[in-house]
Amino acid sequence: MKEPEDLLTVALGSRSYDIVIGSGLLAETGERLRRLLPGGQIAIVSNSTVAPLYLQSVQNSLQEAGFQSLPIILPDGEMYKDWQHLQTIFDALITHRYERSSALLALGGGVVGDMTGYAAASFLRGVSYVQLPTTLLAQVDSSVGGKTGINHALGKNLIGAFYQPKTVLIDSDTLATLPERQLRAGLAEVIKYGLLWDASFFAELEGRQREILRLQPAAIRLIIQRSCAIKAAIVGQDEREGEQGQRALLNLGHTFGHAIETLTGYTQLLHGEAVAIGMVMAAELSVLLELAPAESLQRTCALLQSYGLPIQAPAFPVEAYLEAMARDKKVQDGSLRFVVVQDIGRATLRKGVPIEAIRQAISRHTQ
Ligand code: NAD
Ligand code: GLY
Repeated sequence: MKEPEDLLTVALGSRSYDIVIGSGLLAETGERLRRLLPGGQIAIVSNSTVAPLYLQSVQNSLQEAGFQSLPIILPDGEMYKDWQHLQTIFDALITHRYERSSALLALGGGVVGDMTGYAAASFLRGVSYVQLPTTLLAQVDSSVGGKTGINHALGKNLIGAFYQPKTVLIDSDTLATLPERQLRAGLAEVIKYGLLWDASFFAELEGRQREILRLQPAAIRLIIQRSCAIKAAIVGQDEREGEQGQRALLNLGHTFGHAIETLTGYTQLLHGEAVAIGMVMAAELSVLLELAPAESLQRTCALLQSYGLPIQAPAFPVEAYLEAMARDKKVQDGSLRFVVVQDIGRATLRKGVPIEAIRQAISRHTQ
């Protein structure tokens, strides 16, 4: 018998949408979208790795539900999350005379999801799109909340829009084909939710490594469900990362992490791995500022390591990290805002952090 699915809602008034988490959902895509999407044309954006695995199943189900589908297959990699490949999506849509009533499906990880969302936000000034995330990172984070965009040579995700999907269908079966390193990278974002929001979830992650890393279905469903529930609650309160809002807390570890990704040219480390190191630096900074007990840093390092995640940044001069951070889009009035940890399960924002503390947090966790 098929396991019941989990259903969550991102509550955003007229832009509210469901997140469905379950097994075998990709093969039901068409049926599930029939009521949500008015038009008959759907472009499926995917990449050269994911398409051979899952495109056929999605296309069959769309056809059975009466949709016409157009696959748009991008090369696989963060380095293709750029203008040129966004243009590939537009070229296909325009050539095939896609209209305002058409929709885009993002079938893949966070790269495909972010690009498809941004293409949907701007094509004909906005068409519907749906997220079909196939990496753990995309299932617990990037497919939810409507942050879309592409990278610029000078920094990550610098060009984009807030644009919410019509729904997110999370088929947890897709994790079976995900390389283990990618699974671990996704777990960094899962650990992030525990660290910033939910101490009992963090403690649960401390005790369930074996089940989670072996993809035991109940454990995997639990971490996706808990992560999405936290993200949905935060986005529901603060969709656009407002000055007083809580969404910025989701950037825990990201200011450091983005600098690591920028310096390593987006190739050496996966996003989740960079975020893992970034969280350690953020936890270290919090201890240095005497905001958090030293135990919170120790538990964070231990948990990340127990999931096989790195906690030391590649060897670049501290000044190079600082320079890359100064270009981060979280700079406001020339000063960086940091998400700091107050304890496991509690985080807050800090401006005007002394540069010496930032230097130390970086250098203590750089090879
Ligand atoms: P990714 O999209 O590059 O996917 C990782 C790799 O796994 C790729 O090689 C991909 O082809 C492959 N893959 C995907 N699904 C697979 C499957 N089921 N089986 C086998 N291989 C599979 O990377 P990601 O970690 O999913 O996403 C990272 C991106 O997400 C970054 O660009 C980051 O900026 C973005 N992001 C966005 C948000 C947001 O809120 N929008 C949040 C976090 C991260
Ligand atoms: N990943 C951070 C956010 O969605 O706000």
